[in-house]
Amino acid sequence: MLDWKKASLVSLGLLSLAASLPLGARDRSAPRIDMAKARSKAAALVARMSPEEKVRLTWGIMPFSLAPNAPPLPVGVLPAAGFVTGIPRLGIPDLTETDGPLGIGYVMGLRGDYATAMPCAIALGATFNRQLSFAYGKAIGTEARAKGFNVLLAGGANLARDPRNGRTFEYLSEDPLLTGQMVGWNIAGIQSNRVVSTIKHFALNGQETGRKFVDVQISDKAARESDLLAFQIGIEIGQPGSVMCAYNKVNGEPGCASQYLLNEVLKRDWRYPGWVMSDWGAVPGLDAARYGLDQQSGAGLDKEVYFEKTLLQAALSDPAKMARLDEMNVRILTGLIATGVLGDPVAPGGQIDFAKHNDVALQSAEEGIVLLRNQAGILPLARDAKSILVVGGYADSGVLSGGGSSQVHNKGGPAITRVLMSQGAFASFTTEQYHRGAPLAAIRSRKPTGSVRFRPGRYASDAARLAAKSDLVIIFATQWMAEAVDVSDLGLPDGQDALISQIAAANPNTIVVLETGGPVNMPWLNDVAGVIEAWYPGQAGAEAIARVLFGETNPSGRLPVSFPASTADLPRTEVPGMIEFDPVLFGQQPDPGAKLYTDYNIEGSDIGYRWHARTGRAALFPFGFGLSYSTFEATGLATDGRTASFLLRNTGSRKGSTVGQLYLVKRNGVAMRRLVGFAKVELQQGEERQVKLKIDPRLLADWNGHGWSIASGTYEFALGDDAERIGAIKSVKLSSRNWRD
Ligand code: GLC
Repeated sequence: MLDWKKASLVSLGLLSLAASLPLGARDRSAPRIDMAKARSKAAALVARMSPEEKVRLTWGIMPFSLAPNAPPLPVGVLPAAGFVTGIPRLGIPDLTETDGPLGIGYVMGLRGDYATAMPCAIALGATFNRQLSFAYGKAIGTEARAKGFNVLLAGGANLARDPRNGRTFEYLSEDPLLTGQMVGWNIAGIQSNRVVSTIKHFALNGQETGRKFVDVQISDKAARESDLLAFQIGIEIGQPGSVMCAYNKVNGEPGCASQYLLNEVLKRDWRYPGWVMSDWGAVPGLDAARYGLDQQSGAGLDKEVYFEKTLLQAALSDPAKMARLDEMNVRILTGLIATGVLGDPVAPGGQIDFAKHNDVALQSAEEGIVLLRNQAGILPLARDAKSILVVGGYADSGVLSGGGSSQVHNKGGPAITRVLMSQGAFASFTTEQYHRGAPLAAIRSRKPTGSVRFRPGRYASDAARLAAKSDLVIIFATQWMAEAVDVSDLGLPDGQDALISQIAAANPNTIVVLETGGPVNMPWLNDVAGVIEAWYPGQAGAEAIARVLFGETNPSGRLPVSFPASTADLPRTEVPGMIEFDPVLFGQQPDPGAKLYTDYNIEGSDIGYRWHARTGRAALFPFGFGLSYSTFEATGLATDGRTASFLLRNTGSRKGSTVGQLYLVKRNGVAMRRLVGFAKVELQQGEERQVKLKIDPRLLADWNGHGWSIASGTYEFALGDDAERIGAIKSVKLSSRNWRD
């Protein structure tokens, strides 16, 4: 059992070491934050605090009430996700905390404002574009500051272990390198506005079913080589001021009171200098402070406000607990000082260039669209198509968005809201909402001549009859996902699969536009001519979809997650607990006796494409897959195992972007698949570009229990069009190497 004295000494001691050492082998091209200087200023401030002041920053409220008899809000507090009282005497501001990773959360319209509704995170992941991720983060961080928020609860970095996870849309990918780099650059963009970004939910938060009590079983090795590596890379690049711990347990320890995750991995091994905030209603008790938690968020959702009077009394009675309380404050202030929040107060009413942010939303949506099928070049659409039938997906009204705390309202609010759970205080969090901006209008605007008709798709027979009389059909198919609830399977809900099959039987010139939060099965795939995956494309989604359909932009997205041919090909045929338990929403406390286990040791660190490689079961569409209106080739791979170079060439007839993907495919004769580098490049017709990239040695290594080991021997690399279609092998001899982070 870890005692308080040891907990504070371990963290304080290593923290000072951390202050002087950079975080790991960081991508040096990202903006740097000087954590060392911040920490010394933080310590000086804490030394001036009274004991009572030391339990101001350590807890916060959710400044809006869902319970009918909730106490009134403190005066002047913005309704949003969180609020922490500051210490004006010391120049420490209130912490005004807002969601989320996709833009400024609308919290049920309580503020009456709007924000730029960005494409969902998996769409951003599909861009494979680090600089765009930075621009996306910069835009939402600007809006946070302008609206008076100094903490943005963003940086969703959980890996898509199970594509049925209801928050798959909020996360970037199934791969640790892609997720780590994209989330790191996104956080750097957010924090360039002198606001704090979180990275969340630390860690292994891989399903929503039973999220407040599911107990993830996983070995240290498997965790370090997958989910933890994604967070580690993201923290190295983005240097988030705060880490948000997760609801779920890991090997029996609650995510927000985890000696393993918080004190050992994050603070001891990674020497993380910022603060750990809880998720909302995720704090099991006062002892969470001993096990690495620095701040209790949304304390009203817990059984008690542990981190105020109770914590103060404990600290006054025991010097070791007072030392730990000091360190909690040092960490919070280090994050605030390092990101520039201290000394540059935020205030509502700042200027926002919504037109500029819409451009970022449009580019992110466009570059996130993945062209999956294009038979006989049916795309881009022939402008002389005389009659087009558009069906389904509320395409006459808007584009789908994901539910839960990340929900954003752009100007005018949603065009459509489908109530799915109309009871209870949190019902508004679980409504299916469509952002304004209708794909049908965007299509019609490009078809001045000829007819473009629409059918909602409620009656397949009606749509099929009309399809038979049309030159071509564009079907919009939706899969709504939301926080707190997983999807039961990967079929399209509401009979859409049958609708698509019936329409395609009537007219094979059918194109399916998917607005999904993650992978879906496609039983109709061979019956249709074209498929594009648009995900939840945000407020500019209609325009982005039309620009791709009509060839105004060349699709360049690549799948950040594998699309399995069947859920039978996944490590778990069911989401554990889906039958036994109902969704546990924000304010609800789960049944104290509830027990649920999920065993991630089945796949270990072989998530997604790595699992397909290990089992030999090909994906319907593999990680990294994406077609273009051009063709490209990747040749001339040269590597020494530390760096690599290769040539990308546009062999097509128009400008386009491609993603060079470098994979480790064999290690000492053992076949495997690990993405070890990627580069997105835009090329004119006929243009070629030499690409150079560094290989993070952790991707070649095994976690050995206290560090990384590369065994001597032969390592084989190849360029891939995706994780399954790889080119010529390049073998490299590497000598053994052991090191600590
Ligand atoms: C939620 C989410 C978290 C969000 C927080 C505040 O439960 O898990 O992502 O930031 O509460 O809304």
